[in-house]
Amino acid sequence: MFSRITGIGSFLPGEPVSNADLARRGIETNDEWIASRTGIRFRHLAEGAETSSGLGLEASTRALAAAGVEAADLDLIIVATSTPDFIFPSTACLLQGKLGNRGATAFDVQAVCSGFVYALVVADKFIRSGSHRRALVVGAEVFSRILDWSERGTCVLFGDGAGAVVLEASDRPGILSTALHADGAHHGILSVPGSVSGGKVIGDPFLRMDGQAVFKFAVRVLAEVGEECCAAAGIPPSAVDWLIPHQANVRIIEATAKKMRMPMDRVVVTVDRHGNTSAASVPLALDEAVRDGRIRPGHKVLLEGVGGGFTWGAVLLEF
Ligand code: UT7
Repeated sequence: MFSRITGIGSFLPGEPVSNADLARRGIETNDEWIASRTGIRFRHLAEGAETSSGLGLEASTRALAAAGVEAADLDLIIVATSTPDFIFPSTACLLQGKLGNRGATAFDVQAVCSGFVYALVVADKFIRSGSHRRALVVGAEVFSRILDWSERGTCVLFGDGAGAVVLEASDRPGILSTALHADGAHHGILSVPGSVSGGKVIGDPFLRMDGQAVFKFAVRVLAEVGEECCAAAGIPPSAVDWLIPHQANVRIIEATAKKMRMPMDRVVVTVDRHGNTSAASVPLALDEAVRDGRIRPGHKVLLEGVGGGFTWGAVLLEF
């Protein structure tokens, strides 16, 4: 028993917001600094009442349509998010309610920017065990809500969005190999170190980051985990048709590709237009490359995540 992606969808809220737009909104920054250090030129930002479950609903509806699957037929719903609508219930349950599905297993996965890769691996294991047959796996985020907009070193880097895939049981793979890791010793270099207690915010409710430490860590583990995942499937990285790493910074992506000896014309890059959408970044990029025809049946695609925790992981799949 294997699992295969049978449909993909994504959603970005509102109009693109440029680097110059951020400067016009009063952030002491400029296009040259952001673009040269990160490759980011645009991001999308959720408005007012938009939530992760709402963005996830749009992406999920598109993924279900692409797969030709009804929401009622899903038996597993996993949402990867670090920006849930509520403390509880889970965003997966809220999404399930919006989709009108009843009775499927539904829960959230919290692995920050590795969240979608973690969630996909969990869904793959559910399906391969034989307990479930048709999963919806979603990465949905409104990181704009946890940014300190007075901190120019972080607020310019992130955006909002959602991506979703339908993963179904199949007698041929699908997902060829997976790898997941974490090292909590590094929790301090990327975190939102706050909580709610007694009706008050305790600690700091905004994203804080040691950018240079995150940069170095990300390049090392993305290359390592990509190679590990390929080795587990018995193929060299050169046999991968498309690399889709977490979209945080084009320099991290380029350095990872170089270490893995992957030419950039086989790497999907969306960070220039999406910014870092955390758990949504990989399915957003996957959806774009499938819809524009770059990823074709038979292609091998390597998905990679890295994020707070620290967490990192990879999924190698054949389309
Ligand atoms: O999912 C993982 C999420 N995290 C990441 O991907 C972050 C990884 N790290 C990075 O991408 C880079 O470390 C950053 C892009 C965050 C920062 O680049 P850097 O080359 O490490 O810059 P820096 O933080 O050392 O700042 C250099 C200068 C500082 O000025 P001074 O002190 O040298 O005068 C900053 O104040 O750049 C200044 N600066 C800015 N200037 C214009 C910081 N942010 C901005 C800004 N606009 N937005």
